[in-house]
Formats: sequence, structure tokens, C-alpha cells
Amino acid sequence: MKLNLIAIVVSIVFLASCGNSEKKNQDDKSTSESEMKVYDNPLDDKGIGPVTSLTLPKEINQELAAKGKEVYTLKCTACHKETQRFIGPAPVGIFERRSPEWVMNMILNPEEMVKKNDIAKKLLAEYIAPMANQNLTEDEARAVVEYFRTIK
Ligand code: HEC
Repeated sequence: MKLNLIAIVVSIVFLASCGNSEKKNQDDKSTSESEMKVYDNPLDDKGIGPVTSLTLPKEINQELAAKGKEVYTLKCTACHKETQRFIGPAPVGIFERRSPEWVMNMILNPEEMVKKNDIAKKLLAEYIAPMANQNLTEDEARAVVEYFRTIK
């Protein structure tokens, strides 16, 4: 009887400590995931930065795209070519692999993106040179996004 009691006490202590360590592991996991979230579908990744929601209308706004092309030609062509890999990746077909929010945040907040976003971090590892912050306004970045939609 006394032995049984000891066995019960020991197993309770053991189970309690197991439960604790499991909980601790879960906590660790959730913090590391929130720091670097990895998405099964890259289009679900909105990146990190000022833009949390952007739905592109079906029709391309040609006027906005023309403005975007001007900004892009002036501030981006040192490192990007429309359809060819250069210092950075080619923007052709970018919305097949990235969400509009992600692209906006990569343009507006590249320093934090390459540190804290899984996709951007991998791009930096591949391209070595870091994507430059060209200090675009949100409107300018939105225009560049529209221009990217016209590249074929
Ligand atoms: C100094 C070179 C440089 C300049 C200037 C530059 N970029 Fe980049 N960009 C890069 C590099 C390199 C990468 C790949 C990520 C990395 O290495 O940080 C990149 C990545 C990107 C990506 C992600 C591409 C993908 O396939 O996911 C976008 C979008 C982008 N740049 C847009 C722009 C825009 C818009 C401008 C102009 C406002 C610009 N970049 C200016 C070098 C540059």
C-alpha cells in the first residue's frame, strides 16, 4: 500500500514535469514561427511592412502603370531588368509567385524583409546583394506594382 502511494506520487511528479516541458516547447515553437513564418503557398505571405491589404482590380490601370514605369526606370533599373535576372530578380510574372502586399513591403521595407521574412531572406542568400530601399512613397510603389502587371 505504501509502495503504491509512492509510485503514484512519483508518476504524478513525472507527468507534471512532462506536461511543463511540452508546454515550454510549444511556446518556443510559436515564438520562432511568429518571427519567421513560412507559408505553404507563397501567395499567402504578405511580408512585413506598412501594407497589410491590397487587392488588385481585374483591369490594369494603364495611366498608373505608365507612372510606375517612370519610377521604375529611374530608381530600379540599376539592379533589375524586366525579364532577365540581373543584380536582383526579374519582375516578369511576379504576381504568380508573390502577393501584391509582399511586393509593396519588399519595395518599401526591404531592410526588415530580408531579415525577418522567409522568402526575402532566401532571396538575399541567393542574390547576395541586398535589395535597396529607394525611399518610394506608398503611391509610387503602388504605381510600380501596376507597371509590373504589364510586363510580359
Ligand atoms: C542596389 C540594387 C537594387 C535596387 C536599386 C533595387 N533592387 Fe529590388 N532587389 C535587389 C536584389 C539584390 C533583390 C533580391 C533580394 C535581396 O537580395 O535582397 C531584389 C528584390 C526585389 C524584389 C523581389 C523580387 C522577387 O522575385 O521576389 C522586388 C519586388 C524588387 N526588388 C523591386 C524593386 C523596385 C521596385 C526597385 C526600385 C524602386 C528596386 N527593386 C530597386 C536589388 C535592387
